[in-house]
Amino acid sequence: MVHILAKGNSLLNQFIAELRDKEIQKDSLRFRRNMERIGEIFAYEISKQFEYKQKKITTPLGISEMSLPDSKIVNATILRAGLPFHYGLLNYFDSAENAFISAHRKYHKDGSFTIQFEHLSSPDIEGKILVLSDPMLASGASMEIAYKALIERGTPEHTHIATIIASNQGINYVKKHINMKNVTIWAGDVDDELTSKSYIVPGLGDAGDLAFGSKM
Ligand code: URA
Repeated sequence: MVHILAKGNSLLNQFIAELRDKEIQKDSLRFRRNMERIGEIFAYEISKQFEYKQKKITTPLGISEMSLPDSKIVNATILRAGLPFHYGLLNYFDSAENAFISAHRKYHKDGSFTIQFEHLSSPDIEGKILVLSDPMLASGASMEIAYKALIERGTPEHTHIATIIASNQGINYVKKHINMKNVTIWAGDVDDELTSKSYIVPGLGDAGDLAFGSKM
């Protein structure tokens, strides 16, 4: 199942447009904050698929019976570009546990690259709801590596893959290389093109550099 949130008209489109805009994105504070706000919107949308239980809440004047989320959530992201988006998800999934995956592109002499997995910091994810976020789903290779590293820590009840901008190629790659039973993909928007260096076009540029500055 793939949900493309920009297909509906909402404020989300404004925040994604600001991330993409080459003038507005020069303000890195605003870039990070927009990613965080988008994380909050994703959390709200994804929460509609959790399990809910009736609970009695005591107010100063009586008892209110409410249907409340009853899922154990693990929020996972890929360093470093994923951090502001992850933080937005965590603002709403406030008691979620957290996992971090470190990976980098290893460039070869011919200009091609492979994704090199480095480190995973994760709680047990057995039977929990895994929300795995990466703002850009380009080739899909990092998402595959992250997901496969995480499921060595247990089998989640369900996995929500959350990405702000995906390429069609990335979505197809994930569908082909990850067992999609109990996996849902949530994309803010989907673009058609990928450069030879796996940058999404029109995309927004390098999300990690725009959020945190360039690196060596
Ligand atoms: N990562 C980015 O930051 N941007 C892309 O376009 C693809 C991957």
